[in-house]
Amino acid sequence: MQDSYSKEVKEAEKSLIRYCGEFSPFIAEKASGSYIYDKDGRAILDFTSGQMCSVFGHNHPKIVELLETAGDKAIHLLSSILSPPVIELAHKLSSELPEELSKCIFVNTGSESNEVAIRMAKLVTGGFEIIGFSGSWHGMTAGAQSYTYSKTRKGYGPTIPGSLMIPAPYEYRCPIAHCKGTCDTTCLEVGMRMADQQSVGEYAALIAEPLLSAAGMIELKPQYVKRLKELCEERGLLLIFDEAQTALGRLGKTFAFEWYDVVPDFITLSKTLGGGLPLAATVTTAEIEEECHRKGFVYMTSHVSDPFCASMGLVAFDILHGEDLSQNALKMGDYLKDRLLELQEKHECIGDVRGKGLLLGVEIVKDRETKIPDDDLGRNICDRCLELGLNMNIVRMKGYGSVFRIAPPLTITKEQIDLGITMLDQAITDCLESA
Ligand SMILES: Cc1ncc(COP(=O)(O)O)c(C=O)c1O
Repeated sequence: MQDSYSKEVKEAEKSLIRYCGEFSPFIAEKASGSYIYDKDGRAILDFTSGQMCSVFGHNHPKIVELLETAGDKAIHLLSSILSPPVIELAHKLSSELPEELSKCIFVNTGSESNEVAIRMAKLVTGGFEIIGFSGSWHGMTAGAQSYTYSKTRKGYGPTIPGSLMIPAPYEYRCPIAHCKGTCDTTCLEVGMRMADQQSVGEYAALIAEPLLSAAGMIELKPQYVKRLKELCEERGLLLIFDEAQTALGRLGKTFAFEWYDVVPDFITLSKTLGGGLPLAATVTTAEIEEECHRKGFVYMTSHVSDPFCASMGLVAFDILHGEDLSQNALKMGDYLKDRLLELQEKHECIGDVRGKGLLLGVEIVKDRETKIPDDDLGRNICDRCLELGLNMNIVRMKGYGSVFRIAPPLTITKEQIDLGITMLDQAITDCLESA
């Protein structure tokens, strides 16, 4: 399969900027539910739901209906003009969130939603220093990239001044070589003290993914977040939860932060809110919004408050609740995790299985004793999965492990999970045999 597809992709590369290293070796013709189909009609089970966006499955009928009827309504307007879908979505979102989080803005990408939060945090606090987590990913725009400590930092010159970092609580590989398997939040205390020493006294915000995806599926546990919030409050740091991947039911609740007893100052939503279409939102408190407005806050982009994209958000909540997908994410997530743990018992190269709901990580190691990451094996398994008909995603970071990020649509069935597990099992066996 790979060879013929590579030829087509090679041809395409003549007129495309290679923005992601290597393109996938096949050309996707269409997508539906949990599957992508290539030109020859071959079905590929998608364990990444696109770029972690298509939580309702590819081309959900309600999304297709929205696209088909979009021409009856306004698609795009002057940025200062409001429309019914924008107003309705703002009401809907605030009704889904704790009452403190009542003010919304609608943009297109996750990067942008974080730019908005960071701009507002800077304006309202008068500070400019932003703390992010090691391994985090908040986007590719200059501001969001500055607080993104994934592998995309090198080679592009200075980041925005005031970018500080604390270690993510990576339990499998304690960042300060202190805990054995269960985080006792010492890394947080140490990290904050180090940030305090680096700070020039102009704190604005701390940005966190409830489950750090690009960092290798590292979950922030409730006790950790409770302490994080206290430490932020002590320092006047506003807390931003970036729920690009975790919201809209992925972790078994509409928003992941509902697992915590903590309400953040900002929540940013993107990927999953649009279900595959470009919709993102930033939500904050009335007090913060009021103070920013008083100070002349501006965030004008061509597609802010676009009615068509906002109508997608309404469809997203309709599908999420109508099909009880948070519940399905919990149920199917538990089932998938159990199946992955069975694979771990069988294959020594699976060092760790972690995550929550339908956002799970599988870490590939040389052996469990040394925990040395096995990048080559991880890559080979990923390639072999695709040959067998399973689309997987692996993150490989220097100093971190080699981790599969498993994020199927929330509509996934038990049978599809079983099929995916069979292919993953086969891929691991094949790669170990040929090693
Ligand atoms: C947690 C998180 N935040 C923000 C972003 C950036 O979103 P976008 O690519 O839509 O700009 C991503 C993208 O992967 C992400 O995973």
